[in-house]
Amino acid sequence: MAEPIKRKDFLWIGWGALATFVGGATAASVRFLVPNVLYEPSQKFNAGPAKEFPVGVSTLWFKKQRVWIIRTEKGIYALWARCTHLGCTPNWFLDQTRFKCPCHGSNFSTDGDVIAGPAPKPLWRCQVEVVASGDLVIDKATLENRPGIRDKAPYFAEV
Ligand code: FES
Repeated sequence: MAEPIKRKDFLWIGWGALATFVGGATAASVRFLVPNVLYEPSQKFNAGPAKEFPVGVSTLWFKKQRVWIIRTEKGIYALWARCTHLGCTPNWFLDQTRFKCPCHGSNFSTDGDVIAGPAPKPLWRCQVEVVASGDLVIDKATLENRPGIRDKAPYFAEV
């Protein structure tokens, strides 16, 4: 015949359950104080000497940073290679002097304006700065696509 549980053992079971509950609640509270942060790489990068970009569209940083660098007679700007329709990556067609999105056919001019297709807005321009060393620093975290505003600093740099 099994021995009945003694009063002393019963108390230890109760204390153990209480300690487990308090420990779990404390651990959950401490975990709640630590935010779920997603650390992403910086959106800013040095594209190299600004004067070395020839007039026209450069695809030098297209694969690595998803931007085109466009140099005109007056200055330089960077377009973010993300279609404003649903976010696909357009391609540059030199023979047609336009960017074409492979997903639904949007076409963009070298200014980033929509020429054709379902894209509702022009391509975004990134913040650009020619620093003291002459290098072009591009920040993809700061974007603009409104004509008039996008054509001035900090989205356009005179070179
Ligand atoms: S995502 Fe570019 S046209 Fe739809």
